[in-house]
Order: sequence, then C-alpha cells, then structure tokens
Amino acid sequence: METKIARYVRLIKQALTDYKWTLYYFQMLILNPKYRKLIGSLFSYLLPKTPSNKINFQIQKDVQILEENGLLVLDNFVTSTQIEEMKSYLSTKLCIDRQRPGKETFLAPRFAPKSCIHAYYKLEDTVSIPHVLELANNTMILTIIEEIFGAKPTIAMIHIWWLLSGFDAQANSNERYFTHPGEFHRDVDDWSEIKLFIYLTDVDEHSGPHAYIKKSHTWLLPPKTRDLDINNPDFPMKDNFIKLTGEAGLAWLENSYVLHRSLVPKNKHRLIVAVTYTLFPLPFGPKVPLRSYSDPNQFDPYVNRIYLKCR
Ligand SMILES: [Fe+2]
Repeated sequence: METKIARYVRLIKQALTDYKWTLYYFQMLILNPKYRKLIGSLFSYLLPKTPSNKINFQIQKDVQILEENGLLVLDNFVTSTQIEEMKSYLSTKLCIDRQRPGKETFLAPRFAPKSCIHAYYKLEDTVSIPHVLELANNTMILTIIEEIFGAKPTIAMIHIWWLLSGFDAQANSNERYFTHPGEFHRDVDDWSEIKLFIYLTDVDEHSGPHAYIKKSHTWLLPPKTRDLDINNPDFPMKDNFIKLTGEAGLAWLENSYVLHRSLVPKNKHRLIVAVTYTLFPLPFGPKVPLRSYSDPNQFDPYVNRIYLKCR
C-alpha cells in the first residue's frame, strides 16, 4: 500500500516530467465553477481560434441550452448506417478491462470476464473506427464548443466501451461505481471540458443509461467535493435528475462539470462512444499521434494533434 508521502513524491515527479500532469494537477486546485470558468476564459485568450466561425441562430440556441443545462441532446446527428458500420468494425476487435490491467484481452460482451464492468476498446481501434473522427470533427460540434471555450478545443481523448450487466458483485466490492450507485460526480480534468457521447446500442432503463443532474455544473459544492449523492438533502438532486434512454445513435454534448454517472445496468449491456474536448491536452491521452493524414482541410491539425499527425 502506497504511503501518503510516497504518493506525493510520485505525483511531484510525474508533474515535473510531463507538463500535461502539471496542468492537470494545477487545475484541480480550484473547484469553484465560477472561478474555473473565469480562468478557462482567460487561458482561451492565448489559444488559437477559428478566424471565421459562422454562428447561425441554431448554434446560438444550442450554445445557450448547453451553457444553461450542462447538456445538449443532438437531434439526428448519427445515421443508422453509421451505427451499423461502427458496430461491424468493432465486432472483431478485442477489449481490455482497465480496472485489471495486465489481464488478457477479450471479445466483448460475449467473452468478457465475469469480474469486468467496463470493457474498453484499444486506442488504435478508437481512432481507426469508421465515422468517429468525422463526427468528432463535425463543424457544428466544433463551433458550439469553441463558442463556449473561447478558443479552438483539443480532442484530448476518444473512448469506446461496453458497460456490462451481470458482472460479479463480489469481485467488485471495492468499486465505487457499484458500491455507491447513487453517487454522481464531476470530471475535473481541465479548466474547460465538454464530451460528445453517442450510444451504439439501444439503451433503456435496464441497460445502464447515462444520467445527469440538470444545471448542476454551476452549483457550488462543499469544499474539496466533486461528487454528491442523489439523496443529498442540501441540493435539488432529485428534481433535476434526468436519465438518457433512447435508440442507438442517441448523441449529446455534455459539460463534464455537470454531475453525472452511468446507472448500474440490470440486464442489458451498453456500448458507447465518448470524445473529450478540452482547452489543454490531458495526460491520459496517447503519448504520440496514432495515425497520419495528408489533407489539413479534412481535420483541423490543431484540434486533432493528440490523435492525428498531419503530414
Ligand atoms: Fe465522468
């Protein structure tokens, strides 16, 4: 078991050797959403911007909804053909259980170990899968996010994973996701962070729907707190609780500071894509770009620099 001092030493070493860790730990010092927004907008002055972004009425409306509620559902964003092609690509790809690194890879959901809750596809598959990069770089999406950030976003992470139902409860007795099913959290990764989510399977009440607490991204939580239980009497948690159920293809943008979680699935697995947009690169993304491409007009080289190298 790591001692407190050993942990501090490890964190300091990490921060000194990689500027991404320094940025990451620095932003964790301030949790007040008002100050975080202010600091994010100050940093955005220094970062690249799109010279001629077209802000039409629809985008203005979408920005307003996302800023007010912390979440914006995207209508007709993904086609059923795109969903089928993504699922077909993934059908032969292997997953890993990130809670138990070092263990074997497996085809999910069919051959996932019983202990596994979240089965993740590998980074190289998340960047090579059809449609995800195109959807992540959709002009409307990037414009909405740039309007909120005040600068071009960075695609910091792309994840695709199964949330598995019927996992072994005993093997996960230390897993907060399972042991605290009423606990909602904020992601504290960067001063500004928005995620694009896309369901690749139909998601109902029983398949672990994503849930969030509307407008909670602006709430001032008790000091040093980044999560709240649904039964917390001091905040209107239940009044603002929303479950996202729908067919494969349901997509939304979410401010990562809104309180959220996936509910524990009862009898169906769920497959989801998440693209993380931040102001600064995160230490959790790939160390070097995983793919190269030749046309800078296809994908913005700055927005995509973590995953793609423009030749
Ligand atoms: Fe989260």
